[in-house]
Amino acid sequence: MSANPKTTVSLIKADVGSVGGHHKVHPKQKELAKSCLEKARKDGTILDYYVFNCGDDLELLMTHRKGENNSKIHELAWNTFKEVTEKVSKPLRLYGAGQDLLVEAFSGNVKGMGPGVAEMEIEERIAEPIVVFAADKTEPGAFNLPLYRIFADPMSCAGLVIDPAMRDGFTYRVMDVIENKTVDLACPTEMYDLIALIGTTSRYVIERILRTKDGLLAAAASTTRLSLIKGRYVGKDDPCMIVRCQHGLPAVGEVLVPFGFPHLVAGFARGSHIGPLMPVGLDNARCTYFDGPPRIVALGFNITDGRLVGEGGNEPSDFFADVAFDRARQVANDISDYMRRH
Ligand code: 13P
Ligand code: 13P
Ligand code: MG
Ligand code: MG
Repeated sequence: MSANPKTTVSLIKADVGSVGGHHKVHPKQKELAKSCLEKARKDGTILDYYVFNCGDDLELLMTHRKGENNSKIHELAWNTFKEVTEKVSKPLRLYGAGQDLLVEAFSGNVKGMGPGVAEMEIEERIAEPIVVFAADKTEPGAFNLPLYRIFADPMSCAGLVIDPAMRDGFTYRVMDVIENKTVDLACPTEMYDLIALIGTTSRYVIERILRTKDGLLAAAASTTRLSLIKGRYVGKDDPCMIVRCQHGLPAVGEVLVPFGFPHLVAGFARGSHIGPLMPVGLDNARCTYFDGPPRIVALGFNITDGRLVGEGGNEPSDFFADVAFDRARQVANDISDYMRRH
C-alpha cells in the first residue's frame, strides 16, 4: 500500500494541431501521446492512462497517487503535448500545431498555460464507476445546464428523491472566470442563487460538485478560458469533466440523460456562434458542418486500485455511441440546419 492510498484521476487536454482544419486529432499524435504516458507508467509516475480525442482535442486521462495540481503530473502532460507538437504536428504541418500551448516554458501547473484540466483526488469506494466527458467546439460553461440537471434537478435525477444518501443534496462550487473567485452553493436550499449565476455561461462555470452531507467529491470540470489568458480569441476552451456515479451518487443513466437534450452552447464556427451540443460516440467526435455541431463524448470506466477498468483492456464504455442517443443527434442536426439557414 502506498503512503497515500487515495487515487487521483487527472484529465488534461489540449489542441496541439489537427487534420482537416480544426477537425480531428491525427492517429500518430495519439500514438506518440500513448508512448509518452506508457513510459511514465513504467517509471511509476502514473498508474494507468487512456489517450483519446474529441475532435481536434487530445485528451490525456491519467491515474496516480500524487494528488491534484501535482507539478510532476502537469509537467508530464505538458511535455507530452510539446513532444506531440514537435514530432508530429509540425512535421505533418497539421492545422494549428501547438494551438493551445500558450506559453514557451512549463512553470509548475498547466492551468493558465492553455491546456484544460479536470482532476479529482478520491478515496475509491468498493466500486468506483466514473464517466469522463470531453467536448469540442464549445466552452466550459456548456456543462452548467447538464450538471444542474444531474445533481440538482429531481425531474432528471430520480435518485435525489429515492436514495436517502442523496437527500441532503449537492453543493456546487461555481467559478467566476473573470474575477477568478469561487462561491459554494448548496442545492436545493440555494438553488435559485445557483440558477441566477450559471445561466451566464461565459462567466460563471461549475468547477466541482460535492455531496453536501459528507463533502464527498462527485464531479470536477475544467474552467480554462483561453481568451482570458491570452486577451484574444485563440481557440475554444473545449472543456472536459469527470463525474463519479452510483451508490449514493447519480446513477450512470442519470448522469447521461441530460445530454439527450442537445442544449444550445457557445462555440461552433470560429468560437463566435451558438449551436446544439451533439452527443456522439468516439468515432463521430469530428466536427464538420459550420465546424460543428459542437460534440460531446462520454466514456465509462471503473477505477480499481488506481487502474482504469474498461470493457476490454482499458477501452471504455463509449456511452453516446448507443442508439438511445440517435434522436438527440437528429434533433441537433435539425437545430443546426435551422440556425445556419438564417
Ligand atoms: P445504486 O443506488 O446501487 O447506485 O443504483 C441505482 C441505479 O442504478 C438505478 O438505476
Ligand atoms: P477549436 O477551438 O476546436 O480549435 O476550434 C477553432 C475554431 O475556430 C473552429 O471554427
Ligand atoms: Mg483546433
Ligand atoms: Mg477543439
